[in-house]
Amino acid sequence: MSCWIGFARPSLEHNRLIELNSLNKQKRDVLRHSFNPINNLTYLTNHMTKLRWGILGTANIARKNWRSILHSGNIVTAVASRNSRRSRQFIEECQKEHPFETLPAALGSYEELIESPNVDAIYIPVPTGLRKEWVIRAAKAGKHILSEKPCGTNVADVREMIDACQRHHVQFMDGVMFMHNPRLERIRAALDDQAKFGNLKRITSHFSFLSTGDFHLANIRGAASLEPLGCLGDLGWYSIRFTLWAMNWKLPLEVSGRILSQTGSDAARPVPFDFSAELLFERDISAGFFCSFLSVSSDWAIATGTNGTIRLPDFVHPRKSNLGAIDINGTVTDDLVMNPQAAQEVNMIRAFSTQVLSGKLNEDWPDWALKTQIVANACLDAARAGKVVSLHS
Ligand SMILES: NC(=O)c1ccc[n+]([C@@H]2O[C@H](COP(=O)([O-])OP(=O)(O)OC[C@H]3O[C@@H](n4cnc5c(N)ncnc54)[C@H](OP(=O)(O)O)[C@@H]3O)[C@@H](O)[C@H]2O)c1
Repeated sequence: MSCWIGFARPSLEHNRLIELNSLNKQKRDVLRHSFNPINNLTYLTNHMTKLRWGILGTANIARKNWRSILHSGNIVTAVASRNSRRSRQFIEECQKEHPFETLPAALGSYEELIESPNVDAIYIPVPTGLRKEWVIRAAKAGKHILSEKPCGTNVADVREMIDACQRHHVQFMDGVMFMHNPRLERIRAALDDQAKFGNLKRITSHFSFLSTGDFHLANIRGAASLEPLGCLGDLGWYSIRFTLWAMNWKLPLEVSGRILSQTGSDAARPVPFDFSAELLFERDISAGFFCSFLSVSSDWAIATGTNGTIRLPDFVHPRKSNLGAIDINGTVTDDLVMNPQAAQEVNMIRAFSTQVLSGKLNEDWPDWALKTQIVANACLDAARAGKVVSLHS
């Protein structure tokens, strides 16, 4: 579902006008000399079909999305860090492997990025505990927002973030890459196949990696102030999202959770490192998941119906192809095509950019993010309270 972005279009055009006007004389001369009038026009027209991205924070995951922005045909115009040395270094390293024609600006504060007239959309991968402030400030500045997941530390914060985006007519999306894998269409068709699959009964999923050394002290994932949901926010988010997607966005009636292991940099506020949960839906459909920073790297999901089984051996990160494998009742398919421009993370950036450039907002994306947050926090509340949490509306 989509709706018109009330002010987004004018503000995009306005920003571009400022940018074009601010092309310094040298650049204008280069354009005049390098392009005949027709090519020059082509350059400007092409430029206006690209979304101009800013990256807020030199996070590890931002390197992947830098590449995705390039492969999607859009551009990074600026990277901000709390320290300009880090943004310069980040740009230098990313440019070496995946260069943009024009070097993005290296900014020394997040404020500068938010205020930049050369940025239409901001990718926000700062730790979850800090994300709310920057999402709201970016929305107020008229920037469209791709937020890392988990979106926030609690449901009230995420509602506020999404409300701010709606009030300021900007797009909000969380960065769940597998949602943009065309494999989902095949899985949906398999789930809906009454003859071969029947009625959905159970979804089970798992996402883990083995942290080593002083991870719990040094990584943001061990800090309660930065990533209070621990492995549930970092990994369980995908299991919840896959389950809600399979359930056509119906929330569970009730959830229970268990923190199997917790630790972190603040002994007084440990975060989940091993977590399991159980979700109960209408019609006796159930889902369970396990997520962990303490088990070998593995991500898989299984949906069981009255007549059949669908197995995804790599539901978060397709291993051998863009699509990843699908096993339906024992028959495995995988197109084994590895095209960097069709990777799910590139599709994500392309979908977001195309949506914003269309002048319309996608209303489903924020809704899916909010629902995932509702279930994640309910699982954590259930685990902490040691009781079942009801989500009956
Ligand atoms: N969607 C996915 O596939 C995916 C994959 C991995 C991670 N993630 C999510 O993305 C987020 C970032 O993960 P990451 O592993 O990339 O993190 P990271 O490398 O530790 O980066 C976090 C960035 O946040 C900025 N930051 C601002 N205040 C900070 C503070 N007080 N402490 C530490 N960093 C601070 C830093 O940038 P500056 O120093 O430049 O300001 C830092 O580079 C997490 O929430 C994670 O769950 C998503």
